[in-house]
Amino acid sequence: MNWDQLDWTALDRLRDLFLRGTPTLGPYWQSVSDLANYDFTYGERIGWKWDAVLQGLDPGEWRSSTGAIVDWGCGSGVAGRRIVDWLGGDAVAGLHLIDHSALAVQYAAAAATTRWPGLRVQTGPVPPDKPISLLVISHVLNELDGAGRGELRRMIGQAETVLWVEPGTHSASRDLGAIRDELLGRFDIVAPCPHRELCGVIRPGNEGHWCHFFARPPGGIFAESSWVRFAQRAGIDLRSLPYCYLVLTRRPREQPQKDGNDRQEIRILGLPRKYKGFAKVFGCQISGVGDLVLQKRDARDLFKRLDELSGRSLLARVEGDRLKEVFLEAPSESQTEM
Ligand SMILES: C[S@@+](CC[C@H](N)C(=O)[O-])C[C@H]1O[C@@H](n2cnc3c(N)ncnc32)[C@H](O)[C@@H]1O
Repeated sequence: MNWDQLDWTALDRLRDLFLRGTPTLGPYWQSVSDLANYDFTYGERIGWKWDAVLQGLDPGEWRSSTGAIVDWGCGSGVAGRRIVDWLGGDAVAGLHLIDHSALAVQYAAAAATTRWPGLRVQTGPVPPDKPISLLVISHVLNELDGAGRGELRRMIGQAETVLWVEPGTHSASRDLGAIRDELLGRFDIVAPCPHRELCGVIRPGNEGHWCHFFARPPGGIFAESSWVRFAQRAGIDLRSLPYCYLVLTRRPREQPQKDGNDRQEIRILGLPRKYKGFAKVFGCQISGVGDLVLQKRDARDLFKRLDELSGRSLLARVEGDRLKEVFLEAPSESQTEM
């Protein structure tokens, strides 16, 4: 597949279908070419969202899983491949691909085995008694009718860990938030929530808000004429990659606590808003969600990097609505004081 081979009839049809955001009436992939076109363009953008999510997680913590990795609603398989890559490629025990489109499963399986010839790729239903180590779900929720949701719930019931990414729309995010709250008693929440309470965003009074973040496309994309032309033709903003996500596990994990200096974790939702001498962030913390003020004089370096903060966690002392002694939490790196 290359940029000269793009099939705009197929891409436009798929885009219209995705934008509709309503349950689909069965499989819609019409050919292998549909999947190749999707994988090369829209699928790749979804891959950038996964990159943003996985950057905040330590693969070492999840690598020891020995059971199956299942990519449910795999489409062209971009999410499953991102996960296998993140976990170390050939080191992964196997990848199980599921989609109600046989063409999609076939495409995703071929793409995975081309990339990792030694990888054990399975297809077909997962037996009800088979544990799933990692269940990968990506951009599928709004396509599901009641039966589809029931099937997905059954898979979640078999999973030890769930990695789930959806578009960062108001409806997808609030839908995911409600599912999160339903699963709270059975799973521990790894991300994005810095607490194990009910979701603050879907509490009454916060109807206008939604938990979402913005991924950054790889550097250099804006200078690539092919991507720029694609975005113009498709009518998308290349810079804007909104997503929401959920990482859940049944594995025992430490509970988050305030540190010795009374600092706590705060996840920045959406984008920080910059004003003269201060910024407002919509933050999620154990007490709920709301606007928090970051004074430039309290965090000069952080202030210069506000654009990078969507989805990141801060460690801070909260005084009223003001953030003090702010650290940027970087799970895979060392902590950075700002
Ligand atoms: C928008 S695509 C996303 C594909 C892929 N997960 C990704 O992130 O690129 C949604 C996929 O979910 C699949 N799907 C929709 N309803 C389904 C169902 N009830 N059971 C299994 N797969 C389903 C579709 O066939 C399609 O491949």
